[in-house]
Amino acid sequence: MIGLSFILQAAWLAVLVGGVYRRYFHPLSRYPGPFLASITNLWRFFDFFAGHHHLTEAELHRKYGPVVRIGPNSLSFSTLADFDAIYGYNRHIEKGDFYSFGRQKASEASIFSARTDTAHKEHRKKVVGPALSTSKVVTYHPVVEKNVANFLGRIARAREQANEDGTVEMSELVHAFTFDTTLEIVFGRTLSAEAYTDTQPAKGLLSSFNKISKFSIGTALLPWLQWIMSHPKIQAAIRKPKFDSGGTMIGIGALVGKTRRAVTSEPGRQEASEDDQASILQNFLRISKDDSRWMDPELMWRECFNLVFAAPGSTAAALTATLYELAAHQEWQERIYHESLMTEKGTSDISPPPLLTAVLKESMRLHVPFPSAFPRDITAGAESAIPSLAGYPLPQGTTVQANTFVLSHSADLWGDDVEEWRPERFLSDPNRQTNEIPKTESPSAEEKFVVFSKGARGCVGKEIAMMLLAEAVAAIIKQWRMEKRGGMKGQSFLEMQYRSCPIAFLTRS
Ligand code: HEM
Repeated sequence: MIGLSFILQAAWLAVLVGGVYRRYFHPLSRYPGPFLASITNLWRFFDFFAGHHHLTEAELHRKYGPVVRIGPNSLSFSTLADFDAIYGYNRHIEKGDFYSFGRQKASEASIFSARTDTAHKEHRKKVVGPALSTSKVVTYHPVVEKNVANFLGRIARAREQANEDGTVEMSELVHAFTFDTTLEIVFGRTLSAEAYTDTQPAKGLLSSFNKISKFSIGTALLPWLQWIMSHPKIQAAIRKPKFDSGGTMIGIGALVGKTRRAVTSEPGRQEASEDDQASILQNFLRISKDDSRWMDPELMWRECFNLVFAAPGSTAAALTATLYELAAHQEWQERIYHESLMTEKGTSDISPPPLLTAVLKESMRLHVPFPSAFPRDITAGAESAIPSLAGYPLPQGTTVQANTFVLSHSADLWGDDVEEWRPERFLSDPNRQTNEIPKTESPSAEEKFVVFSKGARGCVGKEIAMMLLAEAVAAIIKQWRMEKRGGMKGQSFLEMQYRSCPIAFLTRS
């Protein structure tokens, strides 16, 4: 009994001493932030699961300024110069333990979770050149067109079943569309002949993906919880296959099985190679074994499946927000409509026309699809890399981050109308006449647009995302006039997860 009481008292003392050290003596104690943040990461954990962490971070920067201590060992930044230093081409600010949810061991990493710059370079070389360069992305255009046609069919059916004014609940329809399109771009037609989310094995899949992205990032905020969650028995319980009442495997387990077959089995690989429709998998398979970009089947599957995590949720958030804003701005629908009638599509040009580009970018700026900061660790050589900390080097191992939502909602960067949806920002850009601008001038909208991040670890699927968004928006607007029928509701976890976005689709007169 005495032993237990001694252990409890010692534990309390250790917590108290640890708290006092973190608050008053830790190298980051000089930076402002909430009291709880200086002693524990628990507050962020709870705030994250409340689904509005992006708003909290923006509020903290309004209150405390451009540098905020958001965890005992973590700083958040809100200026463009600091964002560029963290995510630009700085070679010594790397991904740390936070990303262990995507790689238990270094040998299990993907392009997204690779830790060091050297490791990341290897993954990038194998993924981007062979399958995500502009010339490859163009070849996925027919897949996008086909899936957009299917999406329009789903909207038309939902419209018929809707009440008289044709109101359709868009959030899940959009997610299904981005999911199906991604799967077909990545795996070709090897998974199913029809849209995957129409098949029985896809039952519950979209909500499972939402949950996984929420829990993997949420638990990463507490290293001890992440460690517990990575225990093989817990992982086995999480990954336990699910079956429907008829015995068909459903959900993520079914998708893993089918995608593994496509990538690692000989019949699957042959099917993908011989398909006359281009896919990312087919492009990976074309790399010969003596090429340094060749991947063994396990790595190839990881890179393919990683894209299924990266693409559909973020692109769905971007598309939902764009449709919502257009439904609220009739004049912009008309402008896009006329622009799309005048735009002759060439097969090699997949970049959206200017007005549509401006609408997409402004919708993503205002409703940031990934309203989460992607943390990085300071390693040797980067102690003094962050401009606003001039004179105060950071200890190695400090976690630094800048949330794209915070930057996209900064009045200092975008002006007092930052909360308004104004695509014009991306059209007339007097500050940007040439590629070289003097550092004293204010940055262009393009330079401030951080939604896809920047630098070597910026989004490698940006062109696919823009192609998919542009194709879907233009096709919808050619067919219908949209009217907003209520607010857009959702929560932020890793990506913005919308649960409601009612829009009326009216016949064009
Ligand atoms: C509107 C949609 C999208 C947004 C806003 C977005 C945004 C981002 C951001 C902010 C990052 C940086 C993450 C970090 O710093 O760790 C990122 C990375 C990444 N994105 Fe996207 N993304 C989108 C769509 C896509 C699509 C369609 C794909 C694939 C087809 C994709 C694949 C990736 C991959 C593989 C990475 C990791 C890159 C690396 O670490 O080298 N994304 N994305």
